[in-house]
Amino acid sequence: MSDITRSSLPEHVAIIMDGNGRWAKQRGLPRIMGHRRGVEAVRETVRAAGECGLKYLTLFAFSSENWRRPVSEVNDLLGLLKAFIRRDLADLHKENVRIRVIGDRDSLNDDISALLIEAEQTTRDNTALTLVIAFNYGSRDEIARAAASLARDVALGKIDVSAVTPDAITARLDTAGIPDPDLIIRTSGEERLSNFLLWQAAYSEFLFIPDYWPDFDRKTFFSAIDQYMTRDRRFGGLPDQVAVAGA
Ligand code: IPE
Ligand code: IPE
Ligand code: MG
Repeated sequence: MSDITRSSLPEHVAIIMDGNGRWAKQRGLPRIMGHRRGVEAVRETVRAAGECGLKYLTLFAFSSENWRRPVSEVNDLLGLLKAFIRRDLADLHKENVRIRVIGDRDSLNDDISALLIEAEQTTRDNTALTLVIAFNYGSRDEIARAAASLARDVALGKIDVSAVTPDAITARLDTAGIPDPDLIIRTSGEERLSNFLLWQAAYSEFLFIPDYWPDFDRKTFFSAIDQYMTRDRRFGGLPDQVAVAGA
């Protein structure tokens, strides 16, 4: 990495891993091949994130809208997630990586639910990188579930309406306890959030890169961090107040 110091290293990077299908199409391959190569890119990115001392890496693996895809592709994606956890959990644990999963768990099959719980339980005391897997994740769904949980407590008289503050909502999101992403990267050239971390992205920096996700590697990752470090973050204040306002 270069020694640009305007912004410090990010604590939390979130990635919308997009372009697997187009990567495969470009090569005359079935879409599943793009998803398979995408898993390799995940492994490389997790290693690179650990190396540079990142605290949180969030990966958008499957959105609450991705169920709209053909059943065969949905099954391929679910199969790859299961295979990833079965094959990589021991290595991740050895690397002191903590796994957290965000997204709606209630509608998932028992076998996937059990694997996600196993991954979280096995790694719960790890202290290096926290790998946040966004699976069956949709930001509007997450915010609605947080709002419903607060509304329930108001109805039960456990809390007063005045306790429904931004901090209270933050604390009931799936990402409770995880700092907001400093940097959100989307691959494949698309420039949209697709229902990802809408609440948490209030002051995130964005980086849209043209590469398809299977081509993403450590070099691209470190270059993204370098670009982040040239950004001026103000959080609504003036440049010389950033340290205070961003705290
Ligand atoms: C990202 O690649 C993987 C998921 C959304 C699960 P896509 O499958 O969206 O690839 P494109 O956008 O069709 O190229
Ligand atoms: C976003 O990509 C979801 C994931 C990367 C898991 P999509 O490919 O589903 O997004 P749209 O449909 O192009 O907005
Ligand atoms: Mg896509």
